Amino acid sequence: MMKLVEPTLKYKDTWLAAIKELNNEGAKGFWNVPTYPTDINEYIERTQNHSQGKDLPDYWVPATTYWLIDDEKFVGHVNVRHELTDKLKIIGGHIGYYIRPTERRKGYGYKILGLALIKAHELGLKKVMITCNDDNVGSIKVIERNGGILKDKVQTEEEGLVRHYWIESR
Ligand SMILES: CC(C)(COP(=O)(O)OP(=O)(O)OC[C@H]1O[C@@H](n2cnc3c(N)ncnc32)[C@H](O)[C@@H]1OP(=O)(O)O)[C@@H](O)C(=O)NCCC(=O)NCCS
Repeated sequence: MMKLVEPTLKYKDTWLAAIKELNNEGAKGFWNVPTYPTDINEYIERTQNHSQGKDLPDYWVPATTYWLIDDEKFVGHVNVRHELTDKLKIIGGHIGYYIRPTERRKGYGYKILGLALIKAHELGLKKVMITCNDDNVGSIKVIERNGGILKDKVQTEEEGLVRHYWIESR
């Protein structure tokens, strides 16, 4: 059974293995991918706090982290930010997701965004913004298959050409 859960010690082993893979890929420090080795207890506490708007770093908004679990294993994570800032309106948007590198091209990308759109609805977001680099073919498919409408493409210094999509939550 596939489900989204908030970070928990229950899936510690596969989560740690995935963080190692994501760091090797260079995702280190990007959004909230922690650096391996990492203190999972501290991570769980931090994500819980951020979800409740506590102890946020400067310029961060409340955001909830969910893990995609399939067959009792961690396969990816998604952050749902509760609001946008001027910066997130350019790069970041409401929702950001990662699939563990060794679990890609199996359909999990479609699934994680679909389930995150239900969480966004529960958080009171009727429509969400998702940004995506213009050359990220996998993510473009994931967004468009989930109903994303392309509203804009903007040139940015950090990421080059970035697509701005909006999707209705579910
Ligand atoms: C983008 C990402 C989430 C896609 O996850 P995934 O689990 O591989 O996606 P899926 O298996 O659901 O694939 C979705 C579609 O994209 C295609 N696809 C996935 N990765 C691709 C790639 N690197 N190049 C070309 N096509 C790709 C798949 O073939 C599939 O298309 P199809 O249905 O026509 O066969 C994953 O590559 C990832 O975590 N990347 C790093 C973080 C990131 O870019 N996040 C998104 C930020 S906007």
